[in-house]
Amino acid sequence: MPKFDLMPGEFREYTTRSPKRKFWIIAIIIGIAAFIIGILIGKYAACDTSSPPAQVPGTPEKDGVFLPGVSDAIIKEADLSIRDLLLKNIDNKNIETHLHALTEKPHIAGSPEDEDTLVNYIKDFWENVGFDDVQTATYDILLSYPDKDNPNMIELLNENDEVIYQTPIEEDILTPGKNNTEGIPPFNAYSPKGIVTGQLVYVNYGRVEDYTHLDSVGVNVTGCVAIARYGKIFRGSKVDIAQRHGVIGLILYSDPKDYAIPGEGVYPDTWWLPGSGAQRGTIFTGQGDPLTPGYPAIDTAYRYEEGKTIPPLPKIPAHPIGYTVAEQLLVNLTGATVTEEWTGGINITYKYGPGFINNNWKVRMNISTQNARRNTTNVIGFIRGAVEPDRYIIFGNHRDAWVYGAIDPSSGTAVLMETARVMADLVKSGKWRPRRSILFCSWGSEEYGLLGSNEWVEEYIKNIKERTVAYINIDISVEGTNTLRSKTTPLLYNVMYETVKLVENPNATEIAAGRKTVYDTWLLNRPWKINGEIYGKPKMQSMGSGSDYAPILQKAGVTSVDFRYTYDKNLPVVGYPLYHSQYETFYAMKNLIDVDFKYHQAIARIGAELARNLADSLIIPLNASDYAWDLENLRVSLDAEYGSYLRGNISNYDDLKMVIKKFGEEAADFEVRLNNVNKNDPLLTRVVNDQLTLLEKAFLDPAGLPSRPLKKHMIMAESSNDYYAPSSFPGLIDLLFEIDKLADPSERWDQIRQHFAVILFTIQSAASTLRDVTTFHS
Ligand SMILES: *[C@@H]1O[C@H](CO)[C@@H](O)[C@H](O)[C@H]1NC(C)=O
Ligand SMILES: *[C@@H]1O[C@H](CO)[C@@H](O)[C@H](O)[C@H]1NC(C)=O
Ligand SMILES: *[C@@H]1O[C@H](CO)[C@@H](O)[C@H](O)[C@H]1NC(C)=O
Ligand SMILES: *[C@@H]1O[C@H](CO)[C@@H](O)[C@H](O)[C@H]1NC(C)=O
Ligand SMILES: *[C@@H]1O[C@H](CO)[C@@H](O)[C@H](O)[C@H]1NC(C)=O
Ligand SMILES: *[C@@H]1O[C@H](CO)[C@@H](O)[C@H](O)[C@H]1NC(C)=O
Ligand SMILES: *[C@@H]1O[C@H](CO)[C@@H](O)[C@H](O)[C@H]1NC(C)=O
Ligand SMILES: *[C@@H]1O[C@H](CO)[C@@H](O)[C@H](O)[C@H]1NC(C)=O
Ligand SMILES: *[C@@H]1O[C@H](CO)[C@@H](O)[C@H](O)[C@H]1NC(C)=O
Ligand SMILES: [Zn+2]
Repeated sequence: MPKFDLMPGEFREYTTRSPKRKFWIIAIIIGIAAFIIGILIGKYAACDTSSPPAQVPGTPEKDGVFLPGVSDAIIKEADLSIRDLLLKNIDNKNIETHLHALTEKPHIAGSPEDEDTLVNYIKDFWENVGFDDVQTATYDILLSYPDKDNPNMIELLNENDEVIYQTPIEEDILTPGKNNTEGIPPFNAYSPKGIVTGQLVYVNYGRVEDYTHLDSVGVNVTGCVAIARYGKIFRGSKVDIAQRHGVIGLILYSDPKDYAIPGEGVYPDTWWLPGSGAQRGTIFTGQGDPLTPGYPAIDTAYRYEEGKTIPPLPKIPAHPIGYTVAEQLLVNLTGATVTEEWTGGINITYKYGPGFINNNWKVRMNISTQNARRNTTNVIGFIRGAVEPDRYIIFGNHRDAWVYGAIDPSSGTAVLMETARVMADLVKSGKWRPRRSILFCSWGSEEYGLLGSNEWVEEYIKNIKERTVAYINIDISVEGTNTLRSKTTPLLYNVMYETVKLVENPNATEIAAGRKTVYDTWLLNRPWKINGEIYGKPKMQSMGSGSDYAPILQKAGVTSVDFRYTYDKNLPVVGYPLYHSQYETFYAMKNLIDVDFKYHQAIARIGAELARNLADSLIIPLNASDYAWDLENLRVSLDAEYGSYLRGNISNYDDLKMVIKKFGEEAADFEVRLNNVNKNDPLLTRVVNDQLTLLEKAFLDPAGLPSRPLKKHMIMAESSNDYYAPSSFPGLIDLLFEIDKLADPSERWDQIRQHFAVILFTIQSAASTLRDVTTFHS
């Protein structure tokens, strides 16, 4: 229901409406005024903007060139009373109500519960709260589901091929008031369908180093079915690595050592994972619709055959199980006893295998999971900016969940809904309209590989890349109550710190202990050590993949942040215990995690204020100096790890330090110009704001990373060997990976030198964008 009656370029007093003709007249007057202003600027503005003219003629008198009510709006600073209203109006009870509604039914991507029920719930709510417009974007994509009539199972076979043990299809029914047969049983999305039979071998976490270890103890995994515990790296990387080592099928399980604590009980009494709990999840290592890489999955798209996609879909079947189930498979493994490091928490002696103590016993994986074309819908709500409607702040969260999704992602969706209400209320009541546009996005099919956000970025790349100021991602909003954690690009460090300092600590005990804001506990629990030194501010993590910011940052170069409340990092877990299981329920959130939804409220306050500040400030609060500072930190850690190799094999290695230093000098000069910009001149503020907005994009290279042409960001991306792990200078790190194992590394070093030059150029070119806009030399 698009309902814009605004004309392009029109400014309006909040919500007052007038006949269209009047708007045209105003638009024409503005056009004439802009022309005259342009002439005046051309005539009076000094070339050297670091010493700006004292006043633009005509400004103070508003003598007929400027329009009453219009020129004021263009140059006015943000009204900070709005900030206080936003923080005050965010209501924890409303968030609780939303979470309850959102988690009533399982809502996996592509299901009617997600595509119809929740799309409509969100769309109707946003229309009712008074967004200017709510639009949907639907894509026809490849998803994957198990066959309900032929459920997935793993069987233990004796020497006569008789079934000794069969894994259960469902997790146990444990949630008070929930019937778990309504959700989809545990499975790994995009696993190929098929039956494989073989010797079983235990591969620990299934990382590259685990196979190296197996090699060193003489275990040959080729032709075996492997069993790996979850944790440490992305599950899709585990499948990929297993495949590369000749494994024919991969069983994934959650080990109690990584997901529970002995003697502390399990769900529903505590939040630790019960024995039948299994982690669903995608094993596709690409991003976006597998059939339309690089382009949107719209009607006119070219679709690759399933066997010909880039990257390829997984080739070996995979299936997830819980630890009481895994015990049945592991208990009789033969071979040497594993090392201490490989020993999990099941009460058995862990052996490597391959094979069982009972000669000729085998495992059989019978997997029915199949790919299927489905529609997925993004819902986009708009608050149109009053002055710069073509500049966007995007605030997004995915909607689809493996089952009920009370933590992942509905805790974030509930926050998005309440933030939407509070912002829209201020707009509707006429108290406020942000300077720039704010887009609220509910993404579809994130769990399968960031499909909804990715297809949308691909479809609208030209609009998003040129016009978006920043992206705020909330996936899970609360997975614990210990502290905030934030993944952030450097331009946003400063504004993130300042925002979090404004938000009251949701924990009364901590307030009593003197930690009044979320920032205080964040600083205490996550102090930032940079190359060994305490920095005095909370840690900012860098961004890998794992949520919808990845395509937005890596394809469109939009500076991004992703934050949540999390658990104590000293707990011996590899993730929050109920992750992607049947047991991520409203019950778990309400009874075991955030009892009164105060932590959700804190996250909503951070998101709302961040969006307001970015959307409303006359000068966009992005900090270019922090990018320079961050680059130098990244260089120092690269140097600590690979410096000797790099210095020995790249003759101009020290140029990296030099170009980063020059970038820092340009950033400092830019800040001087920024601080002196004539804020009464709307076009000059737009000049510096555009330089800030476009800076992150300057780190994109059109050719992309080595072997990853769709990942354009040269400084930040996930590691190729673990899609969760962020990597700085990701192309270099990928090329250096296991270089020692190459018989002749000379060709690889040629590639490294080529890519190193691209990095040097990228930093130099980014620096050039910060100069005064008619200076094309350093
Ligand atoms: C695999 O499972 C399906 C359905 O559950 C069954 O019909 C089929 O016989 C099984 N195949 C083998 C080899 O056990
Ligand atoms: C659970 O759901 C299944 C399938 O919808 C239904 O057959 C069964 O009767 C339900 N059980 C309970 C206890 O509600
Ligand atoms: C590992 O096993 C495979 C299949 O049994 C065999 O072809 C290969 O030669 C073995 N590799 C080593 C190093 O023994
Ligand atoms: C493990 O082996 C023992 C001894 O052969 C047997 O009694 C037991 O049933 C086996 N357990 C499983 C789960 O295979
Ligand atoms: C572990 O198993 C052994 C032998 O089966 C048993 O004696 C012991 O009590 C078990 N320990 C725990 C903590 O369950
Ligand atoms: C997707 O939606 C379109 C338009 O509503 C419909 O024509 C099409 O059949 C749907 N595709 C699938 C795979 O459901
Ligand atoms: C509140 O803070 C205290 C002190 O840090 C801590 O012991 C308690 O667990 C916190 N409450 C919650 C709900 O996390
Ligand atoms: C950028 O951040 C640095 C500290 O990291 C600070 O000194 C500087 O004033 C900030 N600049 C702007 C424009 O906020
Ligand atoms: C160049 O790199 C190789 C690894 O490929 C390393 O062994 C060698 O020491 C490096 N050369 C120098 C001079 O550092
Ligand atoms: Zn999620």
